[in-house]
Amino acid sequence: MGVGREAHELNMVREEFPIFKQHPALIYLDHAATSQKPDTVIERMKLYLEESNGSPHRGAHLLSVESTRQYDYGRGRVAEFIGAKSPNEVIFTKNATEALNLVAQSYGKVNLNEGDEIVLAITAHHSNIVPWQIVAKEKRAVLKYLYIDETGQFLSGELDKITAKTKIVAFPWISNGLGCIHSPEPIIQRAHEVGAVVVLDAAQAVGHVPVDVVTLDVDFLVFSGHKMYGPTGIGVLFGKQYLLEKMPPFLTGGDMIEYVEEQETTYAPIPERFEAGTQHVEGVVGLVAAIDFIQGARLDNIRLKEERLAKYAYKRLSELNYVTVYGPKADEPRGALVTFNVEGIHPHDMATLLDRKGIAIRAGHHCTQPLMKYLGIHASCRASFSIYNHVEEIDALIEGINYAREVFGYVNG
Ligand SMILES: Cc1ncc(COP(=O)(O)O)c(C=O)c1O
Repeated sequence: MGVGREAHELNMVREEFPIFKQHPALIYLDHAATSQKPDTVIERMKLYLEESNGSPHRGAHLLSVESTRQYDYGRGRVAEFIGAKSPNEVIFTKNATEALNLVAQSYGKVNLNEGDEIVLAITAHHSNIVPWQIVAKEKRAVLKYLYIDETGQFLSGELDKITAKTKIVAFPWISNGLGCIHSPEPIIQRAHEVGAVVVLDAAQAVGHVPVDVVTLDVDFLVFSGHKMYGPTGIGVLFGKQYLLEKMPPFLTGGDMIEYVEEQETTYAPIPERFEAGTQHVEGVVGLVAAIDFIQGARLDNIRLKEERLAKYAYKRLSELNYVTVYGPKADEPRGALVTFNVEGIHPHDMATLLDRKGIAIRAGHHCTQPLMKYLGIHASCRASFSIYNHVEEIDALIEGINYAREVFGYVNG
């Protein structure tokens, strides 16, 4: 696997991920679905559970105080990582999906009226579509979509759909279905010109590109811990403080209240107002360890490596006349993934045959059915990359595709 210094560096990185000790030959090209976890993330979560486990915000004893300290520290660390002005702007959720539902149900319910418009990108993940469909039905608001060209960029004039009627604009920074990058700045600027708020889905961006919510001037931003080397079960909603302060609770119960009377309740201030129930402290501990890992590896190094891998994958795949590659072309910016289809082979068959060769890819609609329909396909294969991948794994992917073709009786070459 690799030669010289590069191979050495790759092995050093792979050694930090215990999963590759269990599966030494595994070629994991599914980071975009969920990342593998470095030992620091696993170890720190284990340590927390062994030494500090308690119920946060609920008790006076040593372990409760310690779990509260670690939880609150995590909030500050996340705020710092994304450049938020205050930890109060960071709400811990289960994942990006829950964060998006929170904004739709809480902000959407009180700020949308009949005839208002919600503008979504056709590249949006279902988690950034379905919550808006539900609130739009309830409030009799209208959903509109921004459409793209074949490279994944918005068609010219699409941003004109953001008008005085628009109240919310929601889109993915990096599309998990195409790998295209939607530059957030012009959309945010346009939305603010008409008085709309922007919900930026950064699930495929955090851990890949630098995020600074103040420079972006974004109103809401969401991401999931498990896609950035952290554990599942922990996600983040960033919201501007003045917006969050005016929003009603989403989930209700313990920890999010001020006073509960028999008939009435007053709510805790933010961020607790949005964090009902016992929180996932070990998840926050793992998320902090993931942030430390990313910063230790240096985001610019990660980005450089992923760009190289994505470009190489694009090149190798587009050389094959029986492969269709979707999204950005060779010289256009691309996230750390490539989606493609191989003539005559269903993506699920392709993924199953690649699995026989120890190569893990994702196949299906990638929770982007409106995008798939727009592209005129039902499904695609997706190879996604991370710091633990290597160009030779992409060579193996190409060999795997050719192997699958042979199984199906095609002649390669
Ligand atoms: C762009 C994008 N948004 C949102 C999500 C939802 O993430 P989660 O399932 O962690 O909530 C995903 C997951 O694939 C994604 O790729």
